Amino acid sequence: MKILAFESTCDETAVAVVEDGRKILTDQILSQASLHAVYGGVVPEIASRCHVEAISILSQRAIEAAGIGKKDIDAVAVSYAPGLIGAVLVGVNFAKACASALGIPLIPVHHIRGHIAANYLAYPELEPPFLCLAISGGNSLLVDVRDYTDMKILGCTRDDAAGECFDKTARVLGLPYPGGRPIEEFSKGGDDTKYVFPTAHVEGHPYDMSFSGLKTAVINLVHNAEQKGEEIDRASLAASFTKAVSDSLVPRTMQAAEALGYDKIVVAGGVAANARIRADFKREAEKAGRRLFIPPLKLCGDNGAMVGAQGYYEYLAGVRAGSDLNAYATMEI
Ligand code: KG4
Repeated sequence: MKILAFESTCDETAVAVVEDGRKILTDQILSQASLHAVYGGVVPEIASRCHVEAISILSQRAIEAAGIGKKDIDAVAVSYAPGLIGAVLVGVNFAKACASALGIPLIPVHHIRGHIAANYLAYPELEPPFLCLAISGGNSLLVDVRDYTDMKILGCTRDDAAGECFDKTARVLGLPYPGGRPIEEFSKGGDDTKYVFPTAHVEGHPYDMSFSGLKTAVINLVHNAEQKGEEIDRASLAASFTKAVSDSLVPRTMQAAEALGYDKIVVAGGVAANARIRADFKREAEKAGRRLFIPPLKLCGDNGAMVGAQGYYEYLAGVRAGSDLNAYATMEI
């Protein structure tokens, strides 16, 4: 079964063709990040306009690159929540038009479910149940993935998402948006023990996370040093910050896997691209004798293939949408 899949929840327009939920025939991605970089973050109105300009051309390109004709497409899948509402609406309306014109089913896909499903593309042997940590620019969740379409949130961030914290810290350090990759580059050669940052715990909610205190601690440290005219070792600050993020993600996930008795741990989302976080997970999973699944870098960030992968399993579960499908800025997984 071939699914034409759309992703437009933030600043990537992506169109993919995925076969049977596991095989990528093509994954066309157009990132707008450089357009938003001058503003230090995503400007929703600009994002919506760019999606409108790109989505039709990308769709044409995807169908050509997949080596198929429109009549070979069996269904259309689209990320319909959560995300920037104007941006999500572009994908939803275009997908509705495609499904209607081709007379094929329309499948709504939750964006974070898509991130999780990126792992099905990378690991053919991976099947639920498993424990998943989903860490992206807008969300940080620990999810009990009981089945392909049956998930329960075990914990989430109480404030900023992990990616958001990378982006805001990068801004304080004078690094470009999005900040995750530049912080990773910048932290090379830094001493991760030089600065000690807080790792938050929410009393009575062991799987919930919080990153706003960490962000504030970095801002205060930089501003205090500037006021006193002191030099900051920025590479070590970036390394120490990344260590603090990793320390609030990895042990918590390992603890949840232990408590729930899961031997498979899956990590998903843009922040899963971080080399330090990947290495910490690998070490701890090996130590605990659990199997670890993290997508290759190109499937960590937003892409259309992940929507096609999850769309397949939603389709098998009987999920369909009509022409009244709406976009949603927030929605529980
Ligand atoms: O999953 P994603 O592409 O978009 C959302 O669905 O939000 O995640 C984007 C986030 C950004 O905050 C970006 O700074 C972060 O992922 N990111 C990273 C790295 N690459 C991207 N964070 C840490 N280290 C990286 N190498």
